[in-house]
Amino acid sequence: MDHFHDRDGVMHAEDVALDALAAAEGTPFYAYSSATIERHFTVFRDALAGLDDPLIAFAVKANPNVSVIATLARLGAGADVVSEGEMRRALAAGVPAGRIIFSGVGKTRAEMAAALIAGIFQFNVEGEGELHALSEVAAALGRTASVAIRVNPDVDARTHAKISTGKKENKFGVPLDRIAALYATAAGLPGIRPVGVAAHIGSQLASLEPLEEAYGKLGALVATLRRQGQTVERVDLGGGLGIPYDPSLPPPPGPAAYGAMVARVTAGWGVRLAFEPGRLIVGNAGVLVARVITVKSGGERTFVVLDAAMNDLLRPSLYGAWHDIRALSPRAGGMTATIVGPVCETGDQFAEDRSITPVQPGDLVAVMTAGAYGATMASTYNSRPLIPEILVRGRDYAVVRPRQTLDQLIGADRIAPWLKERP
Ligand code: LLP
Repeated sequence: MDHFHDRDGVMHAEDVALDALAAAEGTPFYAYSSATIERHFTVFRDALAGLDDPLIAFAVKANPNVSVIATLARLGAGADVVSEGEMRRALAAGVPAGRIIFSGVGKTRAEMAAALIAGIFQFNVEGEGELHALSEVAAALGRTASVAIRVNPDVDARTHAKISTGKKENKFGVPLDRIAALYATAAGLPGIRPVGVAAHIGSQLASLEPLEEAYGKLGALVATLRRQGQTVERVDLGGGLGIPYDPSLPPPPGPAAYGAMVARVTAGWGVRLAFEPGRLIVGNAGVLVARVITVKSGGERTFVVLDAAMNDLLRPSLYGAWHDIRALSPRAGGMTATIVGPVCETGDQFAEDRSITPVQPGDLVAVMTAGAYGATMASTYNSRPLIPEILVRGRDYAVVRPRQTLDQLIGADRIAPWLKERP
């Protein structure tokens, strides 16, 4: 459920009319709904209420805006980060270091040091080389890293190949049959305290079965490690729950079904569980608002050209992702259009041969479900400045990242010294 709805013929985010926002702030922009972010977090938290003190670490990569993270931090969320930049954002947003998990397949020594000094909750270590490097960095600093070993459970998440992470051919994690040896190594290394295991098998999962299969393997692993005399206090179950993008399709299983499955599968493990949801928390909490520049008929198709493009929201171009597209103030009737941006690539397309209500130049549209992996994957391709992010709360709103100016964009370049001289 989200808080984007029609009121008096125009789409609102909570109590803010998005056409008024467009008039005040210009287009395109991202609008986020605080109430939706909060609702999704609390629904997820409530679905896990039967567990013993679970840590819900928001996957910052999904939406790293500091105000978005701060909205969640106030509800007690932790953060799952994959770079020093994300860690700093989480800290700046008020997430306590003791609720930060550092994931990712290529942490640099500088990043390890920064996280050790900050005193984060846990490093999810993805391989032997990384484990030794972390040990060296921690020992040199006189600190101890709490380490969970990320398992590659070799489970097919049955999602898009580019966002599947738990198959043995993927770069992530350590193969199951090597975990016991690595865990024992970890227990003997200076500066390392092995605390458990972690898994994350992919994103936008449409079914619970692959998750249940992976979790089952984790449970068996915990038992094996304990039989070998290891201490296992924590298991990180990752993120990955899918969200509805296309209203005509059956929705993926929700948090309640997920929570029930987790409670059933992990009963008796005797560990503290961590979760890393990203998309589920923020996906439906954001829309990309754009204005129609022109409507043109090509040889075979009608093209609606928006002022937003693939550089603003990459998901349709990169994954062929489906996003609902709605006029802010729908007109009567219908049309079939291919909805594109102004970038000079055929792949710059939001939707192909889509049935929409008729639009004219100047009309406003919303690309729905753009709160996760939207603004954060934006670039300035075609020298298009980064667009603003606006956080709505009831009748209030705040520009939580202003529009980049062309001066900022171009002024970031430097003229090489030899080009300053006259030819
Ligand atoms: N934990 C780890 C270790 C991850 O790699 C990810 C996402 C998450 C948690 C959060 O997964 P979520 O709950 O959001 O599914 N850009 C792609 C998605 C990439 C996901 C990468 N990892 C997209 O736009 O669909």
